[in-house]
Amino acid sequence: MTHLTQPSPEGTRLGELWSILPEESGVDERGVLHIGGVSVEELAERYGTPLYVYDEAGLRRQIRRFVDGMAERWPNSEVLWASKSFPAAGMYRLAAEEGISVDVAGGGELRMALAAGVPPERLHLHGNAKTDAELAMALEAGIAVIIVDNEDELDRLERLLTKPQKLMLRVIPGVEAKTHASQATGGSDSKFGLPMDQALAAIERMRAHPLMEFEGVHLHIGSQILEVEQFAEAVEKISTAGEFETYDVGGGVGVKYTYSDDAPTVEAYLDAVVNAAREHLPADAKLMIEPGRSIVARAGVTLYRATTVKRTGRVFVAVDGGLADQMDAALTGQRFEALLANRATEPWTETVQLVGRQCESGDLLVDRAPLPAARVGDLVVTATTGAYGYTLANNYNGALKPAVVFVADGEARLVARRETYDEFLALHAPSL
Ligand SMILES: Cc1ncc(COP(=O)(O)O)c(C=O)c1O
Repeated sequence: MTHLTQPSPEGTRLGELWSILPEESGVDERGVLHIGGVSVEELAERYGTPLYVYDEAGLRRQIRRFVDGMAERWPNSEVLWASKSFPAAGMYRLAAEEGISVDVAGGGELRMALAAGVPPERLHLHGNAKTDAELAMALEAGIAVIIVDNEDELDRLERLLTKPQKLMLRVIPGVEAKTHASQATGGSDSKFGLPMDQALAAIERMRAHPLMEFEGVHLHIGSQILEVEQFAEAVEKISTAGEFETYDVGGGVGVKYTYSDDAPTVEAYLDAVVNAAREHLPADAKLMIEPGRSIVARAGVTLYRATTVKRTGRVFVAVDGGLADQMDAALTGQRFEALLANRATEPWTETVQLVGRQCESGDLLVDRAPLPAARVGDLVVTATTGAYGYTLANNYNGALKPAVVFVADGEARLVARRETYDEFLALHAPSL
C-alpha cells in the first residue's frame, strides 16, 4: 500500500492546504495527491477531466458531526441537508444511509431524492415560486413538510390539498447577513418569505384550514456566513414571530475556502444556535437546521488537466474546465486555492492566473495562484469545491457536465457519469 503523508515542504504552500483539502488526502513519495487513498493520476486516467472527486468518509463524518452534535445539544431537533449544495443521486443515497433529513428546492431535486431512496417522511420542500405541478408532486409523494413562502402558494395548496399536510412558513427575519449580496436572503428586501406582519396573517389562514397542519416558522439568512453571532441574532429574531411547535433556522454556515479564511467549526456554530435557542425559544420546541455547503464543500475537489501554459503579460495556466463547472468564482467572487496535484511538493515558484476555457475574461478560477512552474498535461486541483459546483454546472461553449466520483479506502466509484455530446444534442432533436 502506498505510504501517504501530509507534508509542508519549504517553498510551497502545501502545508496550509491540508485544512481545506478533503480530510482523507495526502501525497505519495512522488508528490502526487491522493484522495480517499486513490491517486489523482489514476482518477484522471479512469474517469477523465474535469472531474468532481469526493472523499466519501469525509462526507459521512461531516454529516455525523452535525447530526450527533445537534442531538446532544437539543434532543428535540432535526438536521436537514440542503441538497441544492450538491444534487447528485449518489449524495442523496449517502444522506439516506446516514439518516439525515433532506430539503429540496424544486421538482427535479425532489424526483432525484425520491429515486435515490430518501424516505418521503424525511423530505422538506422549499421554493419562493413553487408551481402547481411541484406541489402536486410533493403531496403525492407524501413528503414531511412543505415550507410555504407566500399567500399565492396557500391559494394553490387550497386547490390541491385532499388530505392533511404539514406546513411551515418562511419568514423574513430582517437580518442583514455579512456575505456576498447574492448569498444574503434574510434582509428586509429579500424575495424569500414574508415579513413578520404578513406572516401572521398567513399563519392564521393555515390554522383555519382543515387540511393545513401548521407546524412553525422557518428562516434562512444567507450563505457562507463566517460569524456565528449572526445565527444567534436570527434565532432571536424568529422568536418574535410567536410561540410554535417548530423553528427551522436554516443553513448558511460558512466554510474555509482559502489559506486565510477563519471559518467556525461545526461545534461553534451549533453552540451559537442552541445557546440562542435556550435563551429565546420555548424549551419544548423542535429545532431544525439546514446546512448545505458546510456538509459537502471540503469533501469535494475539482480535478482538471492543464491544456495551455502561456507566459504573456501574466502567466496563464488554462485548464480543461472553467466557469461551466465552477460558477461560484464568477457569481459570488469566491476565492479558491489550487495546487498542481501531480507535483504538489515541488517549489511553488510562480504566481499564475488559473483560468478556464470558457469565452469570458471573468472565467478566472483563481486569481494570482501560487504554483510550481506548470506544464501542459499537469493535473490541477481546486480545493473545497464540493458545494454548488455540480449544482451550477452548465453547457457554456458546449461544455459537458463533468462526472462525479466518490473515493474511500483506496476505491473509486462513479456516482454520476460525464454528459455526452449525443445527450447534449438530443435536446435539439426537434431542429436536427
Ligand atoms: C432555505 C435554504 N436552506 C438552506 C440553505 C443552505 O445554505 P448553505 O449551503 O449555505 O448551508 C439554503 C441555501 O441557499 C437555503 O436557501
